[in-house]
Amino acid sequence: MPTITVTGANGHLGRLVVQHLLQKGVNPADLRVSVRDMSKAADLHAQGIDVRHGDFDDFASIRDAFSGSDSVLIISTDRVGSRIEQHLRAVRAAKEAGVKHLAYTSLVKAVINQQTNAEAPLAVEHRATEKAIFESGITYTILRNSFYAEFLVTPVVQALASGVYMSSIGDTPLGCAVRTDYAEAAALVLTQPGHENQVYELTTPKAWTVSDLVQVVQKVSGKILDYQQQVSDTDMISAMRAAGASESDAQMAVGMNQMIRSGMLSLVAPDLEQVLGHAVTSLEDQVRSMLKTG
Ligand SMILES: NC(=O)c1ccc[n+]([C@@H]2O[C@H](COP(=O)([O-])OP(=O)(O)OC[C@H]3O[C@@H](n4cnc5c(N)ncnc54)[C@H](OP(=O)(O)O)[C@@H]3O)[C@@H](O)[C@H]2O)c1
Repeated sequence: MPTITVTGANGHLGRLVVQHLLQKGVNPADLRVSVRDMSKAADLHAQGIDVRHGDFDDFASIRDAFSGSDSVLIISTDRVGSRIEQHLRAVRAAKEAGVKHLAYTSLVKAVINQQTNAEAPLAVEHRATEKAIFESGITYTILRNSFYAEFLVTPVVQALASGVYMSSIGDTPLGCAVRTDYAEAAALVLTQPGHENQVYELTTPKAWTVSDLVQVVQKVSGKILDYQQQVSDTDMISAMRAAGASESDAQMAVGMNQMIRSGMLSLVAPDLEQVLGHAVTSLEDQVRSMLKTG
């Protein structure tokens, strides 16, 4: 079995990719992770996985971590603003290390604002990375993930505590899956043939709305929520702060609503289910898992 390296394996998504690879029968001896803090990956080492130090800010560390790997999954870092340099360094390291297949977690095309046709700032870093990968000549698979449904955990949990689901996005449709679906898709493209030089728009095949979400939350929790769907951003921040949310959580929720309102998360596509070979996690199961993690 070829050696597969996963970066960011101490992060949420990376951990899930490793779990899915193991569940799909990859021998731990054929698996490597590249992490900044090796002590946090002690459990992976104990399972027989090769744990290497790899920091995208340190070229030699990632070139060495990738060396001898047939496939590498580059998980985009969370350092928004520094990611072009970091990711381009990782692509160059993969090239120097002789990696044959490079997969990368990008962001859906939907981050083009449907109203203004402008590309979202977050997307710029991903597009630059994709370009570097195409130009590297390495066989690639681009995993353009939509947003993680886990971002809705905070508003859902707060709504259950207060009895009010406040939103400012009306019935704008949403297409976003849970991390485990994206992680399983990544594990599959790393272990199956047929994904070479493909760009996948990984989102749900059917959109849902916040009205649908509220209905499902009510069904799963057994609680009735007062759904206020046309709240202004300012009122939302005030209400969330009054309910005990931190300023940053309140700002994040409002920022999320602004993105949703602009249609950035409305893209739907069959790619995720096609790669998975089964249905994506249903909205009801997404909510069940949100309530568990919340
Ligand atoms: N589609 C979406 O909705 C969405 C939302 C949030 C994030 N994302 C993207 O998806 C990625 C994975 O998500 P997640 O939930 O797993 O995020 P996460 O748990 O915050 O993980 C971020 C990962 O980035 C790694 N990282 C940061 N700086 C690095 C560096 N200099 N060199 C190597 N690795 C570095 C971290 O490594 P350490 O463990 O060593 O700190 C960590 O594993 C995020 O980093 C972000 O690019 C997408």
